[in-house]
Amino acid sequence: MLHDQSHHPLAGKFIVFDGVDGCGKTTQLLEFEKHLHAQGLETKRIREPGSTPIGEEIRKILLTKRGEGLHIRAEMLLYMASRAQLVFEEIRPALAAGITVLADRYTSSTLAYQGAGGGLPADEIRAVAGVATENLWPDLTIILDISIASARRRTTKKGNLHQIGLFQDRIEQRAALYHQRVRDDFVSQCSQFPQRYRLISAVGSPAVIHKRICTATDKFFRRRK
Ligand code: TYD
Repeated sequence: MLHDQSHHPLAGKFIVFDGVDGCGKTTQLLEFEKHLHAQGLETKRIREPGSTPIGEEIRKILLTKRGEGLHIRAEMLLYMASRAQLVFEEIRPALAAGITVLADRYTSSTLAYQGAGGGLPADEIRAVAGVATENLWPDLTIILDISIASARRRTTKKGNLHQIGLFQDRIEQRAALYHQRVRDDFVSQCSQFPQRYRLISAVGSPAVIHKRICTATDKFFRRRK
């Protein structure tokens, strides 16, 4: 039987991994989950948008051709609708049971993509997020930071055609500038909210980045027991 881990500083905590496409957050989230399991912690892993049957339907609108013509405000509200469903169906019950929740993206993504990228004011997004989640904010948001050029090389290596397409020609330069604004915003969220965010360099081998995340997280939660 597992030892009782209810007093572990990470038990029942809500941790988000975020950053630009290609920063490696999904790989790192999975490694971090293994690290928590090795300590006997129970975890719940989610990704946004999606992770609930309703959220997966919303994801299809947002991330396929079905979403063509979506106004930026409607887009932002759909991300929030998916998030609201996820918070009440999965995240809150898990946290209440003392389970550590690991999320691949959360409101930090809406601030970066629909806010800095799409032009919506951050305070409006935060207000809608407060309503959608009944003010559920992560205990810690880990931003994995990498240059857009390096992130692009990673996604290209993985053969992500959507990403290759994003950078193909001159018209797509606009997309590169958009991604730069997104990256800059993730970094600026970290300096705006140092008590809830950690900025981690995503340059280096997966093992090195994993170590950085473990060290930063240990320090963060040891101080806040
Ligand atoms: P991503 O993590 O890339 O999912 P996957 O790797 O499974 O395709 O996220 C999908 C896209 O959604 C990504 O380009 C960022 C975007 N996104 C937003 O624009 N706003 C949001 O609030 C969220 C959660 C994601």
